[in-house]
Amino acid sequence: MTTETRITIPVLRTPAEMAEWSTARSSEGRTIGCVPTMGALHEGHLSLVRRSASECDETIVTIFVNPLQFAQNEDLDKYPSDETGDLHAALEAGASAGYIPSVETMYPVDRSIFIGEDSISKVLCGKSRPTHFRGVLTVVAKLFNACLPDRAYFGEKDYQQLQVIKRMVRDLDFPLAIVPCPIIREPDGLAMSSRNKYLSNQERKDALCLYKGLLAARADFVDGERDARAIERTARKVIQPIENTRIDYIECRDADTLGEIDKIERPAVLALAVFFSDTHLIDNTFLNPDQER
Ligand code: PAJ
Repeated sequence: MTTETRITIPVLRTPAEMAEWSTARSSEGRTIGCVPTMGALHEGHLSLVRRSASECDETIVTIFVNPLQFAQNEDLDKYPSDETGDLHAALEAGASAGYIPSVETMYPVDRSIFIGEDSISKVLCGKSRPTHFRGVLTVVAKLFNACLPDRAYFGEKDYQQLQVIKRMVRDLDFPLAIVPCPIIREPDGLAMSSRNKYLSNQERKDALCLYKGLLAARADFVDGERDARAIERTARKVIQPIENTRIDYIECRDADTLGEIDKIERPAVLALAVFFSDTHLIDNTFLNPDQER
């Protein structure tokens, strides 16, 4: 059974309802795009919805604040939520259904199966958030099983997440394509994030150092710098002097394997994560020697 909101987008609330909806459409030959989110939709999320709507016949936006990917001390309880606003925005951006399961529906109390990744999820954010990607992979696999999409859309803002999900799809033979989508930024350059809402006015101004650090590092790279440590140092020089920030990591790694590199000889990513009080912000930029001088 589906519940209709006043804005006439079908909202499915259990895996069985969702799979039935998708199967009915697939059997008519319609392609299905899926945009997994934790809600509080902003232009970053909506860019994924628009992309899916432009490439697929149907677009499902999933909204589920996944407790499994938050550690005890993280912001699960204060994570922003606005179901009606999100559904409005998703519909306007071209979504054809919402999948909004409850925590009880998603996770039986005696659940005992999880999906873990043993390599690329252990670096970068995986160091300070050791159970995070296990939670992400487990929920994304469940969302795929319910939505049965042909294509699923993920933002490059969460670059490591995107790579870890691509691995899961490859290694476990999920029959769908992962579509990476570019980072959407505020007009001043701060990457859009639901967590930006937690920043004080001062922290919001300070947070611009992430983008400035990436731009400075990228400028070095365009000037011919290929030493990964030198590139990291340039970004660090911009970010470190900002008061009341704590750098989690600033690392230049191979763009595909997330492996350590010394020299940038093939596509790399400069990824960083910085705390502003308790708010953990991430950002990154590609450094592709084939496209730059
Ligand atoms: P959430 O943080 O809500 O993000 C949902 C999707 O939107 C992710 O693919 C993320 O990379 C993308 N996104 C967020 N900000 C973006 C921006 N500024 N530009 C482009 N894309 C952006 O990521 C999650 O939720 C969860 O971990 C999830 C995959 C839903 C699993 O619970």
